[in-house]
Amino acid sequence: MRQALRIGLAGLGTVGGGVVEILDRHKDLLAARCGRPLVLAGVSARNKSRERNLPLGKVNWFDNPVKMAADPDIDVVVEAIGGEDGIARRIADAALKAGKSLVTANKAMIAHQGTRLAKLAEKNGVALRFEAAVAGGVPIIKALREGLAANRLVEVYGILNGTCNYILTQMEETERDFDEVLAEAQSLGYAEADPSFDIDGIDTAHKLAILASLAFGVEVNFAGVHIEGLRHISWEDIAYAQELGFRIKLLGITRRGALGVEQRVHPCMVEIDSPVAHVEGAFNAIVAEGDAVEHAVFEGPGAGRGPTASAVVADIVDIARGDLSPAFSVPARTLKPSVPYPMAERRGANYVRLRVVDEPGVVARVAAALRDANVSIESIIQRGQAEGDLVSMVMVTHEAREGNMIQALERIGRLKSVVEPPTMIRIVTF
Ligand SMILES: NC(=O)c1ccc[n+]([C@@H]2O[C@H](COP(=O)([O-])OP(=O)(O)OC[C@H]3O[C@@H](n4cnc5c(N)ncnc54)[C@H](OP(=O)(O)O)[C@@H]3O)[C@@H](O)[C@H]2O)c1
Repeated sequence: MRQALRIGLAGLGTVGGGVVEILDRHKDLLAARCGRPLVLAGVSARNKSRERNLPLGKVNWFDNPVKMAADPDIDVVVEAIGGEDGIARRIADAALKAGKSLVTANKAMIAHQGTRLAKLAEKNGVALRFEAAVAGGVPIIKALREGLAANRLVEVYGILNGTCNYILTQMEETERDFDEVLAEAQSLGYAEADPSFDIDGIDTAHKLAILASLAFGVEVNFAGVHIEGLRHISWEDIAYAQELGFRIKLLGITRRGALGVEQRVHPCMVEIDSPVAHVEGAFNAIVAEGDAVEHAVFEGPGAGRGPTASAVVADIVDIARGDLSPAFSVPARTLKPSVPYPMAERRGANYVRLRVVDEPGVVARVAAALRDANVSIESIIQRGQAEGDLVSMVMVTHEAREGNMIQALERIGRLKSVVEPPTMIRIVTF
């Protein structure tokens, strides 16, 4: 058996704690699969005296994780602390500069610094791995890098945030509005005290930027992702979606388009028979479309101790086996610049919900605004009550240029009989 691989682990929380447990529980299995033992040689976290209930034995404790990252006794560094900058970045830089491979679960750091870190890893002849950063236990990074390497990929899309999917599923199942379900999710620990990273689509965008780079050979460009979150989705929209044969999902979508690589995150109306329509609760699902494989679907738990640690340890196994291939499939210096995709040029159908005063002429004024912007209506639902009441008017448009759609909605929003800003949800067919 070859020499042991000595691991330095920074962070002993949900992810780091799970890594310690798997390394201990599957010591023999992992040694057999790697052809060498995996040894936890050093750990670091914020608070040394915290009771962790982990099988740490006499593992060397480092007060300073950056020093641990450069310590000659460590072969590979695992960063499980988090944050796009700060301590996580210092650990990553120290490890790679010292010629040690780096495994991280940190999507924020990879979304913001992935290209730079990949270049640094390649310059120093080591590996950068981040399977846990996207979709937790679902091995989508490996699938894109390895399993689908024979394909020219066309599109990758999916549900990348379990909290958002849990909220949408709960809204649908319990017929309640967003704020109520979010508050409950927070009290149950399914959503953070500050949920904005999840519900505003930022977490999904971090993961999407990583997938876009892997799939299409472009630099990781988080700033180039169009991002819309979930806050404006109501139970009423979910009910109308059902009636129209759709479900609402927050998707990350990246595809190769005529104007470059599209990267967008927003709520979508997906057809009821789409592979992502029935993904429930906190699960993640990703669909990759390649020219040879056609559609491949990957689904599983997107977060949590076991699933995330499973992905981290799989990365360590690859490194122990000697896989030093480029983090983003191709050498980082060959990644192409990624330009933000102009959303105004998107073409697609849309769902629109208006809150209007039920009075004569309102439908005609709304229809005129759409017609003048070259948007045609496929169907309208308006359940009138008594004249003068507030009612919802729901429309499905035919495929239209998004810039025209926005222009029409701005005009509609200014109509006197429209009493709330219009809600638009893109209808996405795959
Ligand atoms: N949780 C998930 O399901 C999940 C899924 C995918 C990816 N991730 C990513 O994994 C990373 C870690 O997440 P987590 O959920 O495991 O976080 P966590 O439970 O909050 O654990 C963070 C760990 O980092 C340590 N730490 C914090 N600041 C530190 C510092 N300045 N110096 C040294 N150690 C420090 C903490 O030490 P103490 O224990 O002493 O406080 C703790 O052990 C993040 O990048 C996250 O985005 C998490």
